[in-house]
Amino acid sequence: MHFLTLKDFDKGFLEETIDSAIALKKDYSEYSSAMKNKTLAMIFMKTSTRTRTSFEAGMTKLGGHAIYLDCRTTNFTLGSLQDEAKCVSRYSDIIMARVFGHEQVEEIAKASSVPVINGLSDSYHPCQALADLLTIKEKKDQLAGLKLAYVGDGNNVCNSLVLGCSKLGMEVAVAVPKGYEPMEKEGAAITHSPAEAVKDADVVYTDTWVSMGQEEEKQKRMKIFPPFQVNKELMAKAKQDALFMHCLPAHRGLEVSNEVIDSKQSIVFDQAENRMHAQNALMLKLLEVG
Ligand code: CP
Ligand code: NVA
Repeated sequence: MHFLTLKDFDKGFLEETIDSAIALKKDYSEYSSAMKNKTLAMIFMKTSTRTRTSFEAGMTKLGGHAIYLDCRTTNFTLGSLQDEAKCVSRYSDIIMARVFGHEQVEEIAKASSVPVINGLSDSYHPCQALADLLTIKEKKDQLAGLKLAYVGDGNNVCNSLVLGCSKLGMEVAVAVPKGYEPMEKEGAAITHSPAEAVKDADVVYTDTWVSMGQEEEKQKRMKIFPPFQVNKELMAKAKQDALFMHCLPAHRGLEVSNEVIDSKQSIVFDQAENRMHAQNALMLKLLEVG
């Protein structure tokens, strides 16, 4: 079974994975050899801090091994994607891939004889959303009935959040500039007003205005997005105890002000840590071990 988008998974699968991640985070002792003699191959077409580190350290915690493959220093640039991926899958038990177009991770999955996890494509970031849901559950003790407001660019992170939150019974409001709506809309209230989106929100979420691969659009985007900054004034319009979330890396002073990301409401570092626990629970589930 591959994990390419949350679209393919039902509420039960997501809830089970989140709950086992919460248990795992509390106590790894029973799982410290769960991945013994198992190898995770990590294929990266883009840069990363959290995804690489959380997967690699996660495999260490589970007693397995991870290999980092940077496409620029491997023969992914010479051979066909399918041929190279097929070879990688012969050496490994599970693959994680960070790609540009979503069809590239689909191609890798087609060629692979082992499960493939999407570590971010231009369309989706399912591991991020899984970790985010785990973080919200940890902080608020529930998911269903809560409201998440996403403010900014309707990008990969936004698509996965819309899918994940709506599957788990959360209300989702998305505030984006005209023309930057997310691809996934079902179950989300889309608006062009950040104030409208954050009203009564339990969680306010934002991400970069310029995703990896969109560098050429930077100038244009810098003119369009400033009204969508998450700052103190906007946070004041959400619930008083609203949490602030960001998948990171953050561009301080752009999509989020320093005051907000450094405030007590901000849970961005717990969120980053939870990438590892969520992904560990996911890998155990996909490999049916533990
Ligand atoms: N949030 C996230 O995926 O971070 P990296 O791009 O650093 O992996
Ligand atoms: N939307 C961002 C997320 C980075 C983790 C990007 O794709 O660059």
